[in-house]
Amino acid sequence: MKQFFFLIFTLLVGTSYADNIYLDELDTRFLLQDWGAPVVNQSIMRTPFQVAGKTFNRGIGTHSISRFLLNLEGKATAISGWVGADDRNDFTCNMEFKILADKKEVWSSGVVHKGMPAQAFRVSLKGVRKIALIVAEAGDGIMYDHADWLEVKIETSGKVTPEPVTPQNIVKEKYILTPQPGQSPKINSPKVFGARPGSPFIYNVATTGARPMKFSARSLPAGLILNEATGLITGTATQKGTYPIVVKAENSLGSDSITVRLEIGDKICLTPPMGWNSWNCWGLSVNEQKVKDAADVMNTYLINHGWTYVNIDDGWEAEKRDENGVLHGNAKFPDFKRLSDYVHSKGLKFGIYSSPGPTTCGGYQASYQHEKIDAETWAQWGVDYLKHDFCSYSQLTPSQTEAAIKAPYDVMRHALDGVDRDIVYCIGYGAPNVWNWAKAAGGNLWRTTRDITDEWNIVSAIGFFQDVCAEATAPGCYNDADMLVVGKLGLGWMDKVHDSYLTPDEQYSHVSLWCILSAPLLIGCDMSDMDDFTLNLLTNDEVLAVNQDPAVKPAHKILTQNGQIWWKPLEDGSFAVGFFNADPYFILWDQSQANKIQEKHYPMQLDVKQLGIEGKFKVRDLWRQQEVGEFKHAFRTNVPYHGVRFVKITPV
Ligand code: GAL
Repeated sequence: MKQFFFLIFTLLVGTSYADNIYLDELDTRFLLQDWGAPVVNQSIMRTPFQVAGKTFNRGIGTHSISRFLLNLEGKATAISGWVGADDRNDFTCNMEFKILADKKEVWSSGVVHKGMPAQAFRVSLKGVRKIALIVAEAGDGIMYDHADWLEVKIETSGKVTPEPVTPQNIVKEKYILTPQPGQSPKINSPKVFGARPGSPFIYNVATTGARPMKFSARSLPAGLILNEATGLITGTATQKGTYPIVVKAENSLGSDSITVRLEIGDKICLTPPMGWNSWNCWGLSVNEQKVKDAADVMNTYLINHGWTYVNIDDGWEAEKRDENGVLHGNAKFPDFKRLSDYVHSKGLKFGIYSSPGPTTCGGYQASYQHEKIDAETWAQWGVDYLKHDFCSYSQLTPSQTEAAIKAPYDVMRHALDGVDRDIVYCIGYGAPNVWNWAKAAGGNLWRTTRDITDEWNIVSAIGFFQDVCAEATAPGCYNDADMLVVGKLGLGWMDKVHDSYLTPDEQYSHVSLWCILSAPLLIGCDMSDMDDFTLNLLTNDEVLAVNQDPAVKPAHKILTQNGQIWWKPLEDGSFAVGFFNADPYFILWDQSQANKIQEKHYPMQLDVKQLGIEGKFKVRDLWRQQEVGEFKHAFRTNVPYHGVRFVKITPV
């Protein structure tokens, strides 16, 4: 609503100027960029502009992908200035500046990165009604694209009015696609599971269907037992090896059984972790009760679909370590063992958060020089997952070389290896190329991006560029594209708790894409306040099976008209394919078209040769869990604005 009044106000009153107008004089609130906020007369890092050693006094510091739509009323004659990648940046990443005039590209800088001299431009604008100033990413994702528009001047005899680039105030009703699970048993657990010999073993046979249910397992390795009533397998495996076990669930209406490959060896986390993290909803205000509530909800509604981890993010730590160097919880977390026992009693696993630096991102005590004692403490508490967030370690490594950043992660790896507990290790370092070294640092997952928020341009800026690192995906190794921004969120970003700002179609796209990417699925919302839409979004077993596919193959992206097609091969010889309506700039040139756009469907087509399929194939709609039919050579579908058609394609 706020945005709507702002738009009306601006259109009536106008942010308008005459004669020579500098870009930095315009209202930058309409400039939409995919990281941070635009800065006037400084770089995105709020430092004086500097490009290849040359300084500039005025302009706008922005970040890819950046779009600024300006209504010129046809009265401008030219735009001129300089562009460049700012020097004050830890990394050099590729970006491209562009000017579109009435939807056509009229100027481009070509690929630009840190160290290249600023580029001058002058473009005629005679007769042009609107221009869009774009900073696109250039093949390596948006990370660290610190882009400067410098001394940019528009020569005009009229006004220059910035306009919003995305449809304003469109409300689309939430709609549910996921069918209700049946009453007969259906096992949804991953078909592969890894554990180290000697570590406590926890594997839940996640099964939908009416209770009571009776579980059984054949060929369990020595040391493991199955609880026949709950389907929880616990104990401690003693011997290394590969154990195909057959688990079965029965009730009065039927039965289901699957073969699970137990890998008892060095590797854990053989499919992406699925769980909840406290940050996006509760921020630093997380407390014991909120974590217990999350565990209760997961146990009631989500566990049968494979959801497992209940993870506390920052904000649990005491102010000081005790005399033995042990870091306890603060007043909000009086007894971690009690809490972890509670989470485990619900058949779930328990996660915690720290940093290799002296303090966490939230300013709390962290693990620097206490890695061993922290790992031991967590093992005693029963921790199953660690998010180790870079944060203050950056102060200890002014030169951010890969070796310098990896070093403290090796230390924590070593500490975790020293305890008899399988702790999933998340390397929380959202920076370029983390995927090149995080595997060698023993990470099970690593943040490939900076923080996500619940805006479509941010979700797509993160998700649609994960092809850059996709090849690093393997069993036990995942690119972490950050938490799912569905449901009620906010405090982690200093916002109020609110319903995700993503439209229903955008939320379907978000979950589908994270599943194809084999990204960790970490719910970030208030679990005790999920509506039916959110719950259905998170409990579609055919969709989740794509995420949990045991082959864990990298995903691929195909750029096509009206969007992107993402696909990954699945273990059974079929393919998961998502058709996403996506436009990297998301510019709506005319707000009066906003409603029409939202209602539109966009045709997309895949020639299945691109997947290596010749001839006939079957298509199944994963969200609706329905067969679509048999096709030859190509599949054509219509996709809603910012939405997805998510299917499984099986060669016939
Ligand atoms: C950030 C991290 C967030 C959250 C926060 C806690 O660095 O990206 O996901 O963990 O720290 O302070």
